[in-house]
Amino acid sequence: MNRLTTSWADLRLTRFPEDPRDPLRAWDAADEYLLNHLTERFPGGLPGAGTGTVAVVGDRWGALAASLAAHAPVPLVQIGDSYLGRRATLANLARAGAEDGAVRLLTTRDTPPERIDLLLVRVPKSLSLLEDQLHRLAPALHPGTVVVGTGMVKEIHTSTLGLFERLVGPTRTSLAVKKARLIHATPDPGLSRGPNPWPYRYELPADAPGGVAGRPVVNHAGVFCADRLDIGTRFFLNHLPTGLDGARVVDLGCGNGVLGLAVALAEPGAELLLTDESYQAVASARDTFRAAAPDARARFEVGDGLADAPAGSADVVLCNPPFHSHQATTDATARRMFREARRALRPGGELWVVGNRHLGHHVTLKRIFGGCRVVAGDPKFVVLRAERR
Ligand SMILES: C[S@@+](CC[C@H](N)C(=O)[O-])C[C@H]1O[C@@H](n2cnc3c(N)ncnc32)[C@H](O)[C@@H]1O
Repeated sequence: MNRLTTSWADLRLTRFPEDPRDPLRAWDAADEYLLNHLTERFPGGLPGAGTGTVAVVGDRWGALAASLAAHAPVPLVQIGDSYLGRRATLANLARAGAEDGAVRLLTTRDTPPERIDLLLVRVPKSLSLLEDQLHRLAPALHPGTVVVGTGMVKEIHTSTLGLFERLVGPTRTSLAVKKARLIHATPDPGLSRGPNPWPYRYELPADAPGGVAGRPVVNHAGVFCADRLDIGTRFFLNHLPTGLDGARVVDLGCGNGVLGLAVALAEPGAELLLTDESYQAVASARDTFRAAAPDARARFEVGDGLADAPAGSADVVLCNPPFHSHQATTDATARRMFREARRALRPGGELWVVGNRHLGHHVTLKRIFGGCRVVAGDPKFVVLRAERR
């Protein structure tokens, strides 16, 4: 099921972390459509002989990079925002037998290549991330650059095409194949794009709880709730733990860092770790702290939950787990975050979680921690606390 066969390669692909019970594939019809299109369009091989670069943006689990790695004239560049996606790409490249250095893995925060001959864009879920990336990549495009986007029909909106039109040049779409579509854009060097609106900075509302009212928050494109305070986060801010002087506190899945910021301001003696699997999120949290709490004792790390944290290294973990993507994946992610939090906590340490009531996090916490208590609740949200025994 995870086998992707095209004229470029015959691959067995996995997501990260690998889970044999995970029924979800590591590639989809949008990846396949793009790869088949490239075969027809470039029968003599990919363009860019010696001069420029093939860049792949938003390649979810590395299906595109692993397929094309051996065919790019100079090292192919993959640009992504997800640590999990990067780990999957590395595993998929290794399994495909790709040579060391065949692919340069860049994050969305790295300086993009100077010149791109072929730009492949797997349309991201976040329109703002696409906007930011096209702004950052536009200077590397030239009139001969071939730009092809791909996505499932439900992921490509008029606004998506509008961004290509406005930031790259004249844009058209293909017919749909297996519910996927391609986007063809022709770079127009005469375009006036205006400035990149990202990162977006705003001040937290005057009625925001937790001592953060009026504080600036910096949001890089694609970060969770980039233009306002999320209502679940707001609820959590009202009920954060206190008495954290000297405590090692983790903001797990930190997004723009607003929960960690509240702890830093209320508890200057706390030692904070803010961590997320999104490079854009960790950059946002770091910049939020630079703007709002420059003297806080805080570290910022990209990673898969607390998988790399030493056992017993945290006293308190705060978590507003993801809830947006595919339900099965999201539950699995929350479960994994809770399990890793338990391992990272010292005995007697606590995991504090906010969530929509209907998500039933109390059941998962009970299974992992042996129990949990309700700190606060309203008709929509609940804050739970589970102690590592
Ligand atoms: C609901 S948002 C919460 C953001 C922020 N803490 C807040 O309350 O506004 C969940 C966050 O978890 C992050 N995330 C998802 N999977 C993750 C993982 N495996 N490890 C670390 N962070 C993850 C997402 O990138 C996202 O920033």
